Amino acid sequence: MLKGDFIGVKEDANVFVLEKRFAVKETGRAILRATALGLYFAELNGARVGDAFLTPGWTSYNKMLQVQEYDVTPLVKAGENVLSFTVGEGWYKGRLTWVSKTCLYGEKSAVCAELTVNGAAVAETGADWTARESAIRFSGIYDGETVDLTCDRKALTPCVVAFDKSALAEQIGGYVRNTERLAVKEVIHTPKGELVYDFGQNIAGVAEIRTPENFDGTIVMRFAEILVDGNFYTDNLRSAKATDSFTAKGAHTFSPEFTFHGFRYMKMEGAELPAESVSALVRHTDMERTGLIETGDELFDRFFQNVVWGQRGNFVDIPTDCPQRDERLGWTGDINAFCRTAAYNYDIRAFMKKWLADVRNEQTETGEIPHVVPDALGWHGADALWSDAAVMIPWTLYQMYGDISFLSENFAMIKKYLAAKEANTENGLVVRGHEYADWLALDGEKFKDNIRGRTDRKFLTSVFYAADLKIAADIAAVLGDSSEKGYRRRREEVISAIRAEYVTPNGRVASDTMTAQALALHFDIVPQECKPALVQVLAENAAAHEYRVTTGFSGTPFLLFALADNGCFDTACKILMNEEYPGWLYEVKMGATTVWERWDSLTPDGKPNPDGMNSYNHYAYGSVMEFVYRRVAGIEAAAPGFEKIKVAPRPCEGLARLRAEYDSVRGKICSSYECKDGKIVYRIRTPEGVPAQICLPGEAPIETDGGEFTYERAADGLPVG
Ligand code: BGC
Repeated sequence: MLKGDFIGVKEDANVFVLEKRFAVKETGRAILRATALGLYFAELNGARVGDAFLTPGWTSYNKMLQVQEYDVTPLVKAGENVLSFTVGEGWYKGRLTWVSKTCLYGEKSAVCAELTVNGAAVAETGADWTARESAIRFSGIYDGETVDLTCDRKALTPCVVAFDKSALAEQIGGYVRNTERLAVKEVIHTPKGELVYDFGQNIAGVAEIRTPENFDGTIVMRFAEILVDGNFYTDNLRSAKATDSFTAKGAHTFSPEFTFHGFRYMKMEGAELPAESVSALVRHTDMERTGLIETGDELFDRFFQNVVWGQRGNFVDIPTDCPQRDERLGWTGDINAFCRTAAYNYDIRAFMKKWLADVRNEQTETGEIPHVVPDALGWHGADALWSDAAVMIPWTLYQMYGDISFLSENFAMIKKYLAAKEANTENGLVVRGHEYADWLALDGEKFKDNIRGRTDRKFLTSVFYAADLKIAADIAAVLGDSSEKGYRRRREEVISAIRAEYVTPNGRVASDTMTAQALALHFDIVPQECKPALVQVLAENAAAHEYRVTTGFSGTPFLLFALADNGCFDTACKILMNEEYPGWLYEVKMGATTVWERWDSLTPDGKPNPDGMNSYNHYAYGSVMEFVYRRVAGIEAAAPGFEKIKVAPRPCEGLARLRAEYDSVRGKICSSYECKDGKIVYRIRTPEGVPAQICLPGEAPIETDGGEFTYERAADGLPVG
């Protein structure tokens, strides 16, 4: 499918350039197809090809290596042409994970490419190419890039690198691009005397600088998410050096190619450039924006923006935990928590399709799912929320997009995974296996390394098992697979086993955390008739915690749904709108411009949590925005892919107005409410020709066939303001 050899260099070069001169008699439609073991960018006659970065992205390369295609018609000329590739190590062989693994996929970086003009090959990679050093002297995902425009670039020796081309695949995912440029908000001279540029927003990306004509030297840039006591702070990057260095003479514009940083602040040494010569380039997978929430409440709107920025910062070719430290891995639990919110915010179909292909590729023989995909750690299991991503994410994507291939492509993996999960059970309860449990919940006893919350781990994972079984049965029903009945039966057995072990006859749950109570409600672990009593217990629990959030990764995505869907919408809203520590808006009040990893990543005194592991750009807790889209704005897929739409707005105490839009695959849906002068006005718009049910609070549903609707009601009893 792709002609040409994979070629690298014999020498041990971190970055190198391969080049070929070739003649073209007649110009015409010119197509370059390329991929690399490592990262590459191509230049044709000195012009950079395309606007994508970090190609070919990160996949489990030995199983799937994406090939990119570029239309280079305008760049090819009649006569002599030069095609070159600059190749870096990237994820293929560069340093990865906090234990600094290198050469995860292979020992040698290489590129493979073919260029055709009017369908005929005019150049393809082979041993006849020339090689030399690059002005990029070093580049690493975690450590940054060193560029020296003044250095000699020695000749290197090209060589063919063996690679099994059966792993080659068409590009499925989107492309990473520089999607936005941010100007410097403030130039800061810190108490320690550091020169720091503040871009006002925590992003994934790089800085771009312009040196003046009279420049002669080296500029070193470091990157940080926060200032502590006004000073530049990088402890939370752990071993990631996140340092770019640029040596040049004269006027040049510089931004690194093969890296990205998670930062808001950039510290500069070696020069003091004016703010106009410095900017930040936001770098992540380019996706169509589909969702919007706006309320006029400053804190809340900033929080929504933080969730969106959290997605942008962590959708860098794969869904990552964080973009700044020596991690940036495809943690399955994090994206499982955040997936539906992500799908409201952006069209994530291509992005997730590509990642799910790797989840399948990386599933173990015994059916276990790695904790990070691509599997850079070699850890796998049947962990609640984390490994369950293999089941829950395809289902979520099917609900959002109606694309049945999310189910058909993944059902074999799901079945195999559930067999692995079943192997961890005894009498219907999960009793074995590793668990991250309610990761980072604040409800446990505070002693060293207690980061998994207080919820009974085996209860939690048994509940997730029951949830998986329901999804598997529903998928089987959609696909007409004979396993449906078996999964339903097993789910009943698992639920009975959980009830027998953990639920009292009146519906109290043995594990008394908010997470346990929320999960028991949300996943129908307690019988329907016990739900009113249990939701009361949960609401009291929330009140006793003054509506602060203490749930972790596994409980948080379901907490507000459990309350709202069982008659305690107001309690859900109180938790959502709580501004005190810990809570979503607390972070905003503390100056967050993205969502933090821990509720207490900054403690109320403005200091980083002394226990470490503080990322200021982790999307997992941003998963609550799903609740706002689906239960406050009330925009819901009543049938997969919004074939049928439900709009059920419910005013949230503390938000006098709210406007949400979602550009579904069936067209744009808008839902808004506004409380004014004792009245409440709902404005709803759904695509023409798509059946839509509108449900106003306390009223019978109105069936429509799309259109624009305005309803004015008395605001009595609605505690909005
Ligand atoms: C990551 C997480 C991840 C967790 C699992 C952390 O280091 O940043 O977000 O899900 O480990 O335990």
